[in-house]
Amino acid sequence: MPVVTCIEDLKRLHKARTPKMFYDYAESGSYTEQTFHENTTDFSQIRLRQKVAVDMSNRSTATDIIGMPAAMPVALAPVGLTGMQHADGEILAARAAQKFGVPFCLSTMSICSIEDVAEHTSAPFMFQLYVMKDQDFLAAIIERAKAAKCSALVLTLDLQILGQRHKDLKNGLSAPPKFTLPTLLDLATRWRWGMGMMGTKRRFFGNIVGHAKGVGDTSSLSSWTAEQFDERLDWDKIAKIREMWGGKLILKGILDPEDAQIAADFGADAIIVSNHGGRQLDGALSSIRMLPHIVDAVGDQVEIHMDSGIRSGQDVLKALALGAHSTWIGRAFIHGLGAMGEEGVSKALEIIHKELDTTMALCGERRVQDLGRQNLLLPEGFL
Ligand code: FNR
Repeated sequence: MPVVTCIEDLKRLHKARTPKMFYDYAESGSYTEQTFHENTTDFSQIRLRQKVAVDMSNRSTATDIIGMPAAMPVALAPVGLTGMQHADGEILAARAAQKFGVPFCLSTMSICSIEDVAEHTSAPFMFQLYVMKDQDFLAAIIERAKAAKCSALVLTLDLQILGQRHKDLKNGLSAPPKFTLPTLLDLATRWRWGMGMMGTKRRFFGNIVGHAKGVGDTSSLSSWTAEQFDERLDWDKIAKIREMWGGKLILKGILDPEDAQIAADFGADAIIVSNHGGRQLDGALSSIRMLPHIVDAVGDQVEIHMDSGIRSGQDVLKALALGAHSTWIGRAFIHGLGAMGEEGVSKALEIIHKELDTTMALCGERRVQDLGRQNLLLPEGFL
């Protein structure tokens, strides 16, 4: 077993062990990938202030996320096709999150269904919704999330039109993979992955297949999804969805202070400052650059979360110091999953937790709630 000490190690193993089309699906951004890359490089522009001779005993990373206790201010973001990175991926990731004591959020576009995850976990998980045109499907999936006692609905607002990722088109991305000569040759070298997939009992795209109009199998699914994202999504529709759901609502994909103000006035329980991990609007600024502007605009009105670009506990600390209440990770846990299944997700969480705890101590802070701009040295022009 290779020694794993950081998320980069998990990424290397993920690449080696998972079919190319699924690794590329995770590790790519839209168009030129400018925003995808800047999400991570902008973190490294932020420097930390070292503080010494401060009592570092009794440190704690514990927090609450929309009122629920969490071992650290990190949640597992909704990631489509997680079950293609590793067989039963959503169940394994949800279990690792539960063991660690952080929230897991299931994507609409998951392989395992809401019911699959509910059956194999006991901690409540969140459900992420993409707003589709098929009203029966929308009503039914919200009811299914309620029946599974999901703790919050995460409504994603930044993907009603799909940004293009060149690699996915070139790889002919599909789930399950289509057996062409290149995919067969690629799969032949990923025996662990293949064995796992052969053993799974799950129905692919369990939230959608068999539950949406005209979708009986995975081949009809891609044409359905291609034309189902509702381009007319607006605040009136969001209000209707809130009414149908009736529980805690998190709005994901807010990147502009004006939108953040509308979301705060709307009364969302939290917003996630996010550019979808650089997968949508290429050319947008990184989430970490937009975060302080959004905190200045609505930080006293709504709980602010952020994602996109977090690969370490140091990154989590920087986001908190810039005013995020909590952070979400996508690829950081997906690399763990693709590398080593549930154990890999647990490893990713342990790595980030240890890095956060150590960095917090070296900055002279003992509680995540105390982090602030006093801990940072920002380059000129960053704000
Ligand atoms: C995503 N993301 C995402 N978001 C969402 O609301 N629903 C989804 O189905 C997906 N699917 C998805 C697939 C993959 C492969 C990735 C990498 C991301 C976005 C995700 O929730 C989150 O916003 C980003 O992953 C955060 O960026 P980092 O942490 O990956 O840099």
